[in-house]
Amino acid sequence: MLSGKNILIGITGGIAAYKIAHLVREFIKSGSNVKCIQTPNSKSFITPLTLSTLSKNKVYSEFTSDEKNPSWNDHVKLALWADLFIIAPATANTLSKMCQGVCDNLLLATYLSSKCQVYFAPAMDLDMYKHPSSIQNLKKLKQFGNIMIPAEHGELASGLVGEGRMAEPKNIIEFVKADLASKLPLSDKTVLVTAGPTYEAIDPVRFIGNRSSGKMGCELALNFANKGAKVILVLGPSYQNPIHDHITIKRVESAKEMHLESLSVFESCHIVIAAAAVADYKPLNKLAQKYKKESGTPKIALQKTIDILADMGTAKKNQFLVGFALETNNEIVNAKSKLREKNLDLIILNSLKDEGAGFDTDTNKITILSKRNKMLRFELKSKHDVANDIVNTILNEIDA
Ligand code: CTP
Repeated sequence: MLSGKNILIGITGGIAAYKIAHLVREFIKSGSNVKCIQTPNSKSFITPLTLSTLSKNKVYSEFTSDEKNPSWNDHVKLALWADLFIIAPATANTLSKMCQGVCDNLLLATYLSSKCQVYFAPAMDLDMYKHPSSIQNLKKLKQFGNIMIPAEHGELASGLVGEGRMAEPKNIIEFVKADLASKLPLSDKTVLVTAGPTYEAIDPVRFIGNRSSGKMGCELALNFANKGAKVILVLGPSYQNPIHDHITIKRVESAKEMHLESLSVFESCHIVIAAAAVADYKPLNKLAQKYKKESGTPKIALQKTIDILADMGTAKKNQFLVGFALETNNEIVNAKSKLREKNLDLIILNSLKDEGAGFDTDTNKITILSKRNKMLRFELKSKHDVANDIVNTILNEIDA
């Protein structure tokens, strides 16, 4: 969520400023780029040296810097650089100036110039926090479109106990992450993805399986998660392990286990995409002991596995259901009949005739067919980019 984001932190002159060292560290650990602007008074509570060391950037405080080699610290440039501007601690004095449009320091001038989302974390003693002028200022700042990270209750620097403590750095990070997540296009959706191969046991040692790597399904899970969805990834035996706050992985081995896990969550999902290469057949009987070599040609009787996607098509109520079709001939006709027979909304067709498409590759070439007879053909791309095309097509179809 925060990785690669440009975070501008504005620090004003309150005792809670000493906690900003932790805030900067947490943002850096999350992969963000951090720059700090300090008001002159804040330097009594935390030094620019501490903040520049932790943020790995110069700290800005005055409009001009370095007397020997003067340069202009451009408030407009700083404001444009930021994806997010977090003013913490935000003292009563700064909040009041922000309300009035006063810009007698670099932080305030940058605030007035900023186009990105501004968050502010008030910090003051309990009676200051409750004063009608503070209440009015906080209300006005929220009306301006700024987001308040509410002060917390607890022991204050004065020794009094009450509301007014700046939110703890870890709570500021969680607040910002939750706010960013809530603005993503799939933030209110739960998505089920099946991925990887399945292994159907012959005996305790051997199995029937296939060459699926699980890459396509895992890229889909990551793409949905990055767009804010809560993702349940039912993953067959695969080396892939997509780590993301929004992804819950349920590891399975056989088609039967994949069916059980998928159907147990199906009802609670809004979007379901079956990217797994499920084995179509399994041994009729799994041998309890290892099969021993013997003369002649061994025979393994097979039976069909349960069709997970078809079963979900039957159980479907309001879910948007998507399947894959891997074909070698008569591709469009075969994919269309799977779309219809399995009661799908979309089907993603891969043809093994296309070089670089299908199993165990880092690329894929797809055609998407919809139940409303739309057909979209895509070029050969990385599975990462293919996942983005698929998820965007699903979003367009849902909105249509
Ligand atoms: N699928 C499934 N359960 C199965 C078999 C397939 O959920 N037991 C899903 C796959 O995840 C895929 C779609 O069904 O989304 C198509 O699978 P595919 O094997 O290509 O087609 P089948 O319908 O099994 O038909 P065939 O193998 O004859 O082409």
